[in-house]
Amino acid sequence: MAIEDIKKKVLVTGGAGFIGSKLVHVLLERGVKVKVLDTQAGALRTETNPNLQFLGIGSESVSGGMADRDLVRQAVEDVDVIYHLAINWNGHTWKHELPVADLFNTNIGGTLNLLDAARSHNTRHFILSSSCTVYGETKTKIVGEDTVCNPELWEGDVGPAYGILKLTTEKLCLLYYHQYGLPVTAFRIEYVFDDNDAIPSSSIIENLRKEETIEVKDSDGYGSIHVDEVVQAFLSPP
Ligand SMILES: NC(=O)c1ccc[n+]([C@@H]2O[C@H](COP(=O)([O-])OP(=O)(O)OC[C@H]3O[C@@H](n4cnc5c(N)ncnc54)[C@H](O)[C@@H]3O)[C@@H](O)[C@H]2O)c1
Repeated sequence: MAIEDIKKKVLVTGGAGFIGSKLVHVLLERGVKVKVLDTQAGALRTETNPNLQFLGIGSESVSGGMADRDLVRQAVEDVDVIYHLAINWNGHTWKHELPVADLFNTNIGGTLNLLDAARSHNTRHFILSSSCTVYGETKTKIVGEDTVCNPELWEGDVGPAYGILKLTTEKLCLLYYHQYGLPVTAFRIEYVFDDNDAIPSSSIIENLRKEETIEVKDSDGYGSIHVDEVVQAFLSPP
């Protein structure tokens, strides 16, 4: 849905995080009323825009926020569009320390709370921030939407539980689309970087600037995307 078509508000779950806060800033800049459901104010702690409303701040990350069904219903009440970015995964370390059962309880349970509330309130668009880790180990270097997903076989960072969680979340979104007609879009995103991150490596950027031939080693060759481009993709009508 185009930004101009938003009549009510936009909900961003996990809106105080790395990608969410950038999305929230762009929405606010465009005059959209934004609700953020998060357990901490994070990167938005100094934001004072009157069009911004917080829910769940200070609540416990395993049992509060997304895991609190009543709070999630309240968050969805008056919104047209939901961006679902919240994830309880030990912040930016990408190594989960929570027991797997807790991880799945909070994140899957939270997603179900959100999908159910979205269905009841006839949300016009539900956007999920998924991940290319859903593919796990692939036999080919090029992947498409038809590529078989084997997240359980992934041995690298961030670990197989993450991809399994993301794929399960995608499937739940599809269930709500097929079963109840909820319009959903899932983005399978690669590693996200910003201006403070040296991805691709600074030597590659330096050589590109000098228009010199570059050698991309395997370790430099994995996919990545700048956070501004992720936000731009989120805001493009499907
Ligand atoms: N950063 C990447 O490289 C990348 C790549 C692909 C997909 N993604 C996905 O995009 C989304 C955003 O990623 P990010 O890097 O901004 O993550 P992040 O960790 O910076 O943000 C996640 C936010 O969720 C919040 N949260 C945790 N538990 C919560 C709960 N119970 N209720 C409500 N909020 C809760 C956290 O406080 C945090 O602000 C995630 O779903 C992630 O899986 C990220």
